[in-house]
Parts: sequence; C-alpha cells; structure tokens
Amino acid sequence: MLSQPLLRLVSAVSRRRMKLLLGIALLAYVASVWGNLINMSVLLNRSIQESRELRIESRIEEIIEPLREKIRDLEKSFTQKYPPVKFLSEKDRKRILVTGGAGFVGSHLTDKLMMDGHEVTVVDNFFTGRKRNVEHWIGHENFELINHDVVEPLYIEVDQIYHLASPASPPNYMYNPIKTLKTNTIGTLNMLGLAKRVGARLLLASTSEVYGDPEVHPQTEDYWGHVNPIGPRACYDEGKRVAETMCYAYMKQEGVEVRVARIFNTFGPRMHMNDGRVVSNFILQALQGEPLTVYGSGSQTRAFQYVRREETSWVTECLSASVLDLQEQSGLQACSQNTHWL
Ligand SMILES: NC(=O)c1ccc[n+]([C@@H]2O[C@H](COP(=O)([O-])OP(=O)(O)OC[C@H]3O[C@@H](n4cnc5c(N)ncnc54)[C@H](O)[C@@H]3O)[C@@H](O)[C@H]2O)c1
Repeated sequence: MLSQPLLRLVSAVSRRRMKLLLGIALLAYVASVWGNLINMSVLLNRSIQESRELRIESRIEEIIEPLREKIRDLEKSFTQKYPPVKFLSEKDRKRILVTGGAGFVGSHLTDKLMMDGHEVTVVDNFFTGRKRNVEHWIGHENFELINHDVVEPLYIEVDQIYHLASPASPPNYMYNPIKTLKTNTIGTLNMLGLAKRVGARLLLASTSEVYGDPEVHPQTEDYWGHVNPIGPRACYDEGKRVAETMCYAYMKQEGVEVRVARIFNTFGPRMHMNDGRVVSNFILQALQGEPLTVYGSGSQTRAFQYVRREETSWVTECLSASVLDLQEQSGLQACSQNTHWL
C-alpha cells in the first residue's frame, strides 16, 4: 500500500504529465491545422497559376493558329505541281536562253522548251512581259528567271539562244523609239557576241514588219520589202532589219550558227489586251458589246498565227484571212477612216 504523500506526489506528477501531453497534443493540432492551411494555399496558388497558364496557352493558340494556317498554305505552294516535264539525259538536255521569255510569245516558247526537258533561262526586263506568264515554272530545278536588259552585256553559259526581247506591238515600240532601236541593235549584238563566245546557236525573232508596207502579197522570203526608214514604225522595222543583217554578218564572219524567224501577227492566250492590233481590238470590242472597227476599205489582208500551249506540244497554227472574210463571219461594221490596221 502506498502512503498518502506518495499518492499525492504521483497524482501531481501525472497531472503535470497530462498537461504536458495536452499541451503537446494542442501544439500538434495547431501545427497540422497550420500545415493544412499552407497546403491549401499552395494548392490554391497552383490552381490559380494553372488557370492563368491555361488562359495564356489558349491566347497563344489563338495567335498561332492563323500563322499555322499561313505556314500550311506556304508548304502547299512549295509542293506546287509543275506542268509535266520530260526527262532528258545529260547528253540531250540543252541549256537554253530565251530573251523576252516573260512576254507573250516567249512564255509559250519557254513552256515548250521546259516541257521538252531542257534547262531554260529566261532573261527579261519586264517592259511588256510579266512574271506571271512564267510563274508556273518558278522554283523548278530546270528554270531560271533573270531580270536583265539585253542592251547590257550578259555572261552566261548556254547551248542555244532564242532572242525575242523587243517590244512587239506598235504602241509599245513607238513609246520609246530610241530604246526600241537600242534593244534591237545593241541587244542583238550582245546576244550574238554571247553566241560567238560560248558557241551557241541563235534564233532571232524577226517580224513580217521587215517588209514594211509591202507591194507584194503574200510576201515571200526573197522579197526585200518596202520600208520607210524615217516613218513612225521605222524604229521597229529598221531595228529588226539591222538585227537580221547582224545575224548574217556574224554567221559569215564569225561562223555563228543563226536562224531568223519572221513572225506574222500572232494571237492567243497571254496576248496583251491593249496590244493595239486587230485581233485584240476585235476581242475587246466584242467583249464590250461594241461594233468591231474595220479601218480603210476592208480589203486589206493579214497573215495570222495562233500560239498556245497544249499538254505536250507547242502548237502554232497559221491562217490567212482578209478583213472581208472576217467581216462576213462576224457581221462587222466597216469604218470609213482610211487608216492602216495596226
Ligand atoms: N506578237 C507578234 O505578233 C509578233 C510578230 C512579229 C514578231 N514578233 C516578235 O516576237 C518577239 C516577242 O513578241 P511578243 O508578241 O511576245 O511581245 P511581248 O512584248 O509580249 O514580249 C517581248 C518581251 O521582251 C521583253 N523586252 C523588251 N525589251 C527588252 C530588253 N531591252 N531587255 C530584255 N527584255 C526586253 C519584254 O519585257 C517582253 O517580255 C519580239 O521580238 C517581236 O518583235 C512578235
């Protein structure tokens, strides 16, 4: 049996222990509540941050989506399909220069040469030519487009030269007659010089205008023409005549292989609507529902050539028609002005 003082001592000690335990328990409780509070605030902060990040992400998405769309469009244009091109072996594949290749006739010639599998370099100063005439080849490994004026020398390596650079329609060649003369003389000299240096064959795109106001119909190649050297068209007519003379001088003196093609009035896709000549005039007037204008008596004749690109071949079709034939076909109204057809 424990004595009374001992019992009091034991109970005093256990009361203290109890208080201590209670104090510890209270502290533990406060600490856990505190910890929970901290956890909750961390969680709250995290969720606030997450929702902020989500908002930023969706904002970025909104900005990026149109850019992605643009990139997709660009990628599509990079994988653009070119017109079908034949494969030519190294031996058969020629490096060909087409001056004036962004023009009406030149761009069809470029199409033909490209589709035949050659390497084509188009040189053009875009006076009357347009990039869109050849844009379907831009980026093709066989194609190159150079913005250059043939009045300046050009140093490239080629096997053949098709020299078409020159304004062709009267409003264009009369716009700056001196420039027309320079293009056809200095420009042709430069191309012949290039042909001589690299041993290339050159074809000159000449014109029926070398016959001037002809006294012989139809004109044969041995007809020398009837040209006014100081008339309004002389810059073009005489420019082309001297260009032909230069070709044959280079052939005789330097042994350069040359060809001369005298092209007659050509029409077809990509022709200039404001060409000023009869076919485009008729088409424009017809589209506008106006009477078609025929100058003079209507008995003049012209030789026409149609140019277009087909899937695999460049087709030119020649036809001759008198104004009267055309009049009959289309019910034209004759115009009393006694002016030459352009
Ligand atoms: N279209 C016809 O009916 C016709 C008739 C006879 C002859 N031609 C000849 O055929 C060729 C092409 O005629 P087109 O009807 O295609 O004419 P076009 O005007 O459409 O093409 C001529 C091209 O030559 C370019 N050019 C002009 N001057 C140049 C220069 N100094 N340097 C570089 N490029 C230059 C032009 O920008 C244009 O792309 C011309 O030589 C023209 O004389 C055409």
